[in-house]
Amino acid sequence: MRVVVFSTKSYDRLTLTERNAAGHTHELVFQEPRLTLATVPLAAGFPVICGFVNDVFDAPVLEALAAGGTRLIALRAAGFNNVDLRAAHRLDIAVARVPAYSPHAVSEFTVGLILSLVRSIHRAHARTRNNNFALDGLLGFDLYGRAIGIVGTGRIGALVARTMAAGFGCRVLAHDVYPNPDLLACGVDYTDMPRLIAESDVVTLHCPLTPATRHLIDAGTIAAMKQGALLVNTSRGALIDAEAVVEGLKNGQLGGLAMDVYEQEADLFFEDLSSEIVRDDTLQRLLMFPNVLVTSHQAFFTQEALAAIAETTLGNISAFARGETLENAVTEALIQPSG
Ligand code: NAI
Repeated sequence: MRVVVFSTKSYDRLTLTERNAAGHTHELVFQEPRLTLATVPLAAGFPVICGFVNDVFDAPVLEALAAGGTRLIALRAAGFNNVDLRAAHRLDIAVARVPAYSPHAVSEFTVGLILSLVRSIHRAHARTRNNNFALDGLLGFDLYGRAIGIVGTGRIGALVARTMAAGFGCRVLAHDVYPNPDLLACGVDYTDMPRLIAESDVVTLHCPLTPATRHLIDAGTIAAMKQGALLVNTSRGALIDAEAVVEGLKNGQLGGLAMDVYEQEADLFFEDLSSEIVRDDTLQRLLMFPNVLVTSHQAFFTQEALAAIAETTLGNISAFARGETLENAVTEALIQPSG
C-alpha cells in the first residue's frame, strides 16, 4: 500500500525500510514534519497514514485526510490520545496501533529515572565533569523499605511494580481501575488514589491519558503527597499539571520530578533546539530546578522496541491491505472508565 510516514527521524526510516524489505511490499514515503492541519496536504492521496505520538489526528485533520482518500491510520505507538476516535469512526477511517512493543524499554527507563532522582546521579555527573567532587546537596535515601506508588499496572506499570518490589525491596502501593491479580503474589498492595498519594515516597505514572486522567496530578494531589515525595512520569505529559508541579517544587512540598513526557512537548521534543530560544516558560522553569530531570520522550527508545514498532506497524498495514479484521485496532471501547 502507499503509506506516508510522518514525524520520521533517520532511525525510523532505517528500521521501517529494513523491515519492509524483509517481509512487506509497501511503498513508504517518509516525511520529517509532524502531521498537523498545516502539513496535512502532504498526506493527500495516501490511503495509509503512519503517525507517532505528537502527530495530530483531531477532527479537522481527519476530515482533510478523509477528503484525500485516507482509510487507515497506523500509529507507531501504544498511546492513542492524539486521535479523535469518534471523528475517525464517523469518517470511516480505521485506526491501528502497536499495543506492546517493549514494555521492558519503558519500565527499565522508569527505574533508571527513579534511581537517578533518588541519588542525584544527573547532578553528580554534571558536577564531576566540572571537577567538582563535593557531595554536599547529593544526599539521597535507600529505596529499600520505601513506599512506591504506581498508578496504572498494565504492561509497563506491572513490570515497574515487580522490579521495585523484588529488586529493591520496596513496599509497592498500586492503583488501577482493573487490578492485576498476578501482582498480589509479589506483595503489591492495591489501594485507592488518596492512600497511594498520601503514603508514597515516590509516585510513578503508568496509566493512559484519557479525559478521566488529564491532570491527575494537580495542586490538590501535590498538597496531599508526603512532604518531599518524588514524582515520575513516563506515560503522557498531560497526566500532570506542570504549573502546579512548579509551585510544589518551589515550596518544597514536592522533593523532585523526573519526566520523560510533557504536556506541551509536541513542538519541542525530538528536535535539537539548542541554538534557539525556547519560549515555554513552564518547561524553562522546570529545567532550572536541581531536583528535576527531564528527558525528551525517550523511554521507548531501544533497538528492540524500534524493531518491534516497525514490524507491528507494517503488519497492521499488511493485514488492512488483505482486508482482515485488525488485531490491533483502536476503538472507543479501549478508552477505560475513570477510577
Ligand atoms: P496498558 O494499557 O497496558 O496499561 C495501562 C493501565 O492503566 C491499565 O491497566 C489500565 O487499567 C490502567 N488505567 C486506566 N485508567 C486508569 C486510571 N484512571 N487510574 C489508574 N489506572 C488506570 O498500557 P502500557 O503499555 O502499560 O502503557 C502505559 C502508558 O505508557 C501508555 O498509555 C503510554 O501513554 C505510555 N507510554 C510511554 C512511552 C514513552 O516512551 N515514554 C512508551 C510507551 C507507552
